[in-house]
Amino acid sequence: MKKIILIAAMSISILAHAQTKKIFTETASQKSSRLEWWTDARFGMFIHWGLYALPARHEWVKMRERMTDEQYQKYFDHFNPDEFDAKKWAKEAKAAGMKYAVLTSKHHEGFCLFDSKYTNYKATNTPAHRDLVKEFVDAFRAEGIKIGFYYSLLDWHHPDYTIDNCHPLRPADSLTNTQKDAYYTRVNKGRDMKKYQQYMKNQITELLTKYGKIDILWLDWTWQKGEKYGKHPQDWDALNLIKLVRKLQPNILVNNRLGLDQDGYADGGDFVTPEQVKPAELLKYKGKDWETCQTFSGSWGYYRDERTWKNQRQLLDLLITSVANGGNLILNVGPTARGEFDYRANHALDSLSYWMHANSRSIYNCTFPPEEYNLPKELNQRLTYNPATKKLYLQIFDYPSDGVLVLPGYNGKITYAQFLNDASEIQFHPSGPENKDLTLKLPKQKPPYEVPVIECTLTVK
Ligand code: GLC
Repeated sequence: MKKIILIAAMSISILAHAQTKKIFTETASQKSSRLEWWTDARFGMFIHWGLYALPARHEWVKMRERMTDEQYQKYFDHFNPDEFDAKKWAKEAKAAGMKYAVLTSKHHEGFCLFDSKYTNYKATNTPAHRDLVKEFVDAFRAEGIKIGFYYSLLDWHHPDYTIDNCHPLRPADSLTNTQKDAYYTRVNKGRDMKKYQQYMKNQITELLTKYGKIDILWLDWTWQKGEKYGKHPQDWDALNLIKLVRKLQPNILVNNRLGLDQDGYADGGDFVTPEQVKPAELLKYKGKDWETCQTFSGSWGYYRDERTWKNQRQLLDLLITSVANGGNLILNVGPTARGEFDYRANHALDSLSYWMHANSRSIYNCTFPPEEYNLPKELNQRLTYNPATKKLYLQIFDYPSDGVLVLPGYNGKITYAQFLNDASEIQFHPSGPENKDLTLKLPKQKPPYEVPVIECTLTVK
């Protein structure tokens, strides 16, 4: 008997791990058509904007510095983004080649950029006096950019949201677990997560009914399974929340951070969200639907004194390596409290727009190529591939100073090659043992792009 129970328990946990339970009836091919615009797009803009732009020292500042609502209030009182012009943002996103944009409608601080009926803690009640979400939607949609809303599951302002280990009012780290338990019981008395769940449902309903078609909902985030003092799918009423979302916007894409995969659901989210990982780690997501979210510096919200900004090569590496492994990149901008992208963000976006103008054909509609085209790792080049046009793109990270680029095993595989930026021919000839390789003759002078791209027409049609 014991043994049977054990086996049953094991298979339940294996099943849970394998995420085989389903909430909806959608088939795999229906899902891939629903996601098609997004997998084709490959590149999006994340926008983290809220009251934390004023302290300008990380969007978690309220939590990190253990501020009370009263101490944080000055940012609400002074929120006056006089330079905010959503049309300008939309134009910059479009120029950089970003096809979708996801704005923080509410971040962990609880402040809402939209005019919600269910709270006073919103932009319309600050000196801004505007529904900033509405302006964002109108401007980005007008540029043909798909619309996404980030909505924080955490809320450091709502009176019913219980204090947890990521809350500004969490207990001191020095307390023992028994002392912490007593503290949580005391401070959470009277806080009712059921009411908070209803608040989220009400607000998400507003977001998904008042602004037209919404393409993405980016919910953030849920603790790992079993983490004490954290929150888990049932704390959000996650199952009913996702059902509500899909009922209101059947074609919407939802990320995986409601945590339903922890409960064994295969369709609790549409894509996984590796955050701030290095390009080399992206390989392991190949074959899944995924989007890596990345900052220009280290913070999501505007951080005045942050100095570790990624350079153009690092940004291109993230973008190209994402596509080369079949995923998306969503790159974040943290606008200032005056409502503008700061000079470093503008500089980065401009450099991406320069590169994308010439090379975006190797990004949109592309993915990893069939295995036979793989190149040895040591070459440090990346390959992207458009399955519809059957073009192969060689992204040259290490440009040969003598102009000689040998592609092992490539003889017979391509019929024509050209630089993508100016469609100028690249000549090649067979080389190596038994002429199995192909030597490309590049100009010694590298084209004026950090990562030049060679477009190859394949022999196979
Ligand atoms: C994290 C952070 C948050 C940021 C998000 C973006 O979960 O809590 O500040 O919004 O990642 O991916």
